[in-house]
Amino acid sequence: MPAPSARRLSPFSSLRGRLRVPGDKSIGHRVLLLALLARGRSRVRGLAFGDDVGRTRAAALALGLRCEGNSGELVLEGPGWEGLARSPTASPLQLDCGNSGTTARLLLGLLAGRPGAACLSGDASLSRRPMGRVLRPLQRLGAVFAGGETLPLRVDGRPLVGSALRTEVPSAQVKSALLLAGLQAEGTTTVHEARRSRDHTERLLRAMGAPLVAEADGLGWRVVGGCPRLDPFDLTVPGDPSSAAYAVALACLLPESELVVEGLSLNPTRLGFYRLLRRMGGAVEWTLEAEEPEPVGTLRARSSSLEAVSVDGEEVVSAIDELPLLAVVAGAARGTTVIRGAAELRHKESDRIAAASRLLAAAGVEHEVHPDGLSVQGGREFLAAEYDASGDHRIAMCATVAAALAPRPSALRGAEWVRVSYPRFFADLAALSSKGTHEEGAAS
Ligand code: S3P
Repeated sequence: MPAPSARRLSPFSSLRGRLRVPGDKSIGHRVLLLALLARGRSRVRGLAFGDDVGRTRAAALALGLRCEGNSGELVLEGPGWEGLARSPTASPLQLDCGNSGTTARLLLGLLAGRPGAACLSGDASLSRRPMGRVLRPLQRLGAVFAGGETLPLRVDGRPLVGSALRTEVPSAQVKSALLLAGLQAEGTTTVHEARRSRDHTERLLRAMGAPLVAEADGLGWRVVGGCPRLDPFDLTVPGDPSSAAYAVALACLLPESELVVEGLSLNPTRLGFYRLLRRMGGAVEWTLEAEEPEPVGTLRARSSSLEAVSVDGEEVVSAIDELPLLAVVAGAARGTTVIRGAAELRHKESDRIAAASRLLAAAGVEHEVHPDGLSVQGGREFLAAEYDASGDHRIAMCATVAAALAPRPSALRGAEWVRVSYPRFFADLAALSSKGTHEEGAAS
């Protein structure tokens, strides 16, 4: 990505209004890849194309997806399991996953059992991220890859045989890849995880009539392979709770603030951050309006007095993408917040423990770094600072929240990274800021 000069970030006095965030990124990836496998035309509203979902769209188009319509409604028609574009082993299909771990990991599972060859590559950040966690269980099904444990990787599609699998880390990307491979394998595949990760793949597959059954312990799934027929679907993609979290945090932290987020995903596997905010004393509530195939509704947040919180275990998984934001919020809460059990943060688009620590240090927030998290001392005023996004969209958005809490303007290098998940982030926040102080342009 080009590197424009730093963006000036102004303090906010309060945040008020109604917000609709772009369609959920995790669901967006699944919609495109599963429409590719369905028999017939799927209809989708609210699919948002940040850079990440754009990578999955490009890959799906290369594999044979037809995509028509406009921003209102898209009609997606795939060739089904048997019709996926094939490339001879001599000239594999080249699929560039950019910054998107979800694109890469889901494609590894999807392509593992299809005939033909493909080469997956990514940007510098994605090329450092671990792929062994998805390659090893796929190899147990008979999948064949060439390369190391990071991108670039070559997939040589093979007939797969079902097996009982356990993920090495709780990861929806890995689980989804294994389910996609299991659906193509001969016989039955079970996929178990130690903690429950987001369940968008399972929900959509079940809505498509896939032979997918939950195991009694609630932590596993059983699929019957053989490339079953998958029905097309009709879906409105709900707003992304990971994108809404920044405005919701500011509504809690700033005085005289009130925010209503409409059409938001209320999938319980994604609401960890909001539950934590409530535990901190945040005035955050939500109302469910529809449940199938994905829960959706309205969330309301207003000015609150926040206390520190401790996070570990199960909660970490459902708040994983918002934990750097939680660290920022903790800096403005009373007491010491402790985030542990979150070593996975080191394997995201950046090392998010290190990046959050740099951000907190720049803002003058006292904190301690642990191998698997952070302890953050709250209660001091945030300083105006020069932030760096660390090549990570979520760190760019965290810096914007920290800057909104400071008494004077700050600057952010790498603001353009928000394109990965939420291209209109700065415009949406500016529209909610009561003073409209959130200025565009280069830092002075
Ligand atoms: C995602 C799963 C999570 C999350 C990522 C999106 C998904 O990653 O952090 O932003 O869409 O499945 P892991 O599967 O690595 O936990």
